[in-house]
Amino acid sequence: MKKQFLLLLAVIITACSSPDPGSDIISLKEGWKIQKGDNPEYADPQYNDTKWTVIEPGRPWETQNINSLVEYDGYAWYRITFFLPEDIRKNSYFGEELQITLGKIDDTEQTYLNGELLGINNTLIDEANRDSIIFEGDPKAYSYFRNYILPANDERIKWGEKNVIAIRVHDHGGGGGMVSPSPTISMVDIKEYLSMDVESDPFEIMGAHYTKNIRFKNDHEKQDFAGLLTIKASRYTDGKVLYETSERIMVKANGRYEHLFSFSSPNSESFKIEYIFTIDEADYPVYKFQGAPYILTPPAPEEPRINGADVFGVRPGHPLLYTIPVSGNRPMTFAVEGLPDGITLDSINGFLRGSVKQEGDYTVTLIASNNLGEDKKSFTIKVGDAIQLTPPMGWNSWNCWGLSVSDEKVRSSAKAMVESGLVNYGWSFMNIDDGWEAEKRTGSGELLSNDKFPDMNALSDYIHGLGLKLGIYSSPGPLTCGGYLGSYQHELKDARTWARWEIDYLKHDWCSYRLICPDHDDIEELQKPYRIMRASLDKTDRDIVYSLCQYGMGNVSEWGADIGANLWRTTGDIVDTWESLLTIGFGQYENTSHNKPGQFNDPDMMILGWVGWGPNLHPTRLTADEQYTHVSLWCLLSAPLLLGNDLSKMDDFTISLLTNHEILALNQDPLCKQADRVYVKDDIQIWTKELSDGSLAVGFFNMDNEVRAIQIALEAIGLGGEYLVRDLWRQSDIDEVKEEIELRLMPHGVSLLKFTEL
Ligand code: GLA
Repeated sequence: MKKQFLLLLAVIITACSSPDPGSDIISLKEGWKIQKGDNPEYADPQYNDTKWTVIEPGRPWETQNINSLVEYDGYAWYRITFFLPEDIRKNSYFGEELQITLGKIDDTEQTYLNGELLGINNTLIDEANRDSIIFEGDPKAYSYFRNYILPANDERIKWGEKNVIAIRVHDHGGGGGMVSPSPTISMVDIKEYLSMDVESDPFEIMGAHYTKNIRFKNDHEKQDFAGLLTIKASRYTDGKVLYETSERIMVKANGRYEHLFSFSSPNSESFKIEYIFTIDEADYPVYKFQGAPYILTPPAPEEPRINGADVFGVRPGHPLLYTIPVSGNRPMTFAVEGLPDGITLDSINGFLRGSVKQEGDYTVTLIASNNLGEDKKSFTIKVGDAIQLTPPMGWNSWNCWGLSVSDEKVRSSAKAMVESGLVNYGWSFMNIDDGWEAEKRTGSGELLSNDKFPDMNALSDYIHGLGLKLGIYSSPGPLTCGGYLGSYQHELKDARTWARWEIDYLKHDWCSYRLICPDHDDIEELQKPYRIMRASLDKTDRDIVYSLCQYGMGNVSEWGADIGANLWRTTGDIVDTWESLLTIGFGQYENTSHNKPGQFNDPDMMILGWVGWGPNLHPTRLTADEQYTHVSLWCLLSAPLLLGNDLSKMDDFTISLLTNHEILALNQDPLCKQADRVYVKDDIQIWTKELSDGSLAVGFFNMDNEVRAIQIALEAIGLGGEYLVRDLWRQSDIDEVKEEIELRLMPHGVSLLKFTEL
């Protein structure tokens, strides 16, 4: 196969825009300038600031490559000039107050509007308090969110004219300046009182039937909001309306209202739902839209199909547990031809257990049968030094339960891992993150679990009994990130404790080790604690997958493998937003080509399903298309697949994302190549991954908010020949791909194709 990536990439792009009726909000995201020093004339609207430096709000001035401010603490002034249209007052429902939302400012701030003092450290200045407010000396000022609300007829405001905001900032130390990304100006209006929450309740899907609840809350003391609520589902591709309904509703003053609706829609294509609440006598509607879930993964056949990796690594003499992942109707019977001595098969559950003394590659045939048929697959047990030959697949408690994780929650997720059928696709690790550790060690220095985990051995028996594996979490420092006991100076004891508990996986999280090693530029010091734990794990008789978590410091992807880790986090913590997915997932191109069997870059855990980082969970804030993008990218990257959701609360959509065997096969491909980003332009990215069978997986990603039609010359992605092209999500071949391919990509969506040379 040709590998000349980055040739002339003929990408023709068109966009379909969607209307976004919203309230009148003036964005002050762009247009700010900064000047170091202090001079009262800077407040004057006539002052000539053309020579000032352009600066973004949202990041401290030290981080913006402005020479004079890189290490600067002290005074500086921000200024912005903007037009304030009369219309925003006229269109406003209440029309009484204007709000200037500047966000957090580090540290103290004094804001002028058109040369007049407007506020100090979030206290609006009026005649009464004019002389009593102090600018300096407030140590907490950096934490105040600045939002100045003033009467619409205040003389400082110039309606229908240019206005100038000037902000005098004093940075006492550390970061300085405007640190919230999106300052705005708007009228205090319906949006301040009425919320329409479409995120808290998920779509319930039964076949093609969707049900959904939306919640309204009115915080106004006196004003009811009555009007017409329109809910409209339309296809992203051509705008075809699939469903539309309108109903009069009322949300009473100081009240709540819930609205349940349901509709049927062919659920195999991307579509959006718009919620439009047109309040009587208001000039603009309250509006939200969501990308609705739709299922691409075809249902699994009822006959047995053996899924999962083709290889499994285990060290000589160490206990092995492998659950043969098979979809299809139960009951199922399992058989294996050519099993090495020491391994036995549970023929009802498909569990392989035991240990092999002799190093070597043992190729066996896995066989699964039910009343409808049989499937066979060649599978190699590699007995040697290397373990976790393909990326780990499983679950970790952090992104759902945070520090509120408990034995019961781990068990219920493990049970759901089996009952949802995920285990039939190779999902196997159940990893406890931070929050399991007791407050004190025993007199002899042993680490104990806390009350939420009454018996670790019983828990591991339960997990292993389900054919799953158990992971644990600690820090090389004295304390974990959550403030629990870490393993500092107790590494060997802890490794032995975990081995006694029959733990299969350790996530080792830097956290308080920063106090011991403040110099993050010294690679040897960065490696030291991990080498100590590696040596300690090696003294146990278990295969414990070793996961480093130090957020990518010192280019860990360059040396994680050398110190014997199986995976290493390359970034900070992920959250369930598109921005986070974009930075963390799509930022992985910087770490390319370090992945090998048993050695993986880890862009953090998954953000699908119900997540929450604490006791209260919510459905992921990613749209359906963003979720397809998330799974596709992680599979292309050969990244660890660690779910971060409550597994006992998964709908058909989430399960469909996690049980597409053709997509998962990319992740589990034995070459373990991390995809290369071969094209990035005009909000389109193309990533390609070489697979062990000589074919190429290609992810076409649309970073735009709109549908995009693209036309790509195959030559441009290194393909010059005749190909069988397969749409992996739909598991169907695409005919008629000759010299170029045409695709329609959903907003923030993906098309994931496999090209196999004929
Ligand atoms: C850090 C890690 C997270 C999680 C928490 C636990 O933030 O990056 O993944 O383990 O600590 O406290």
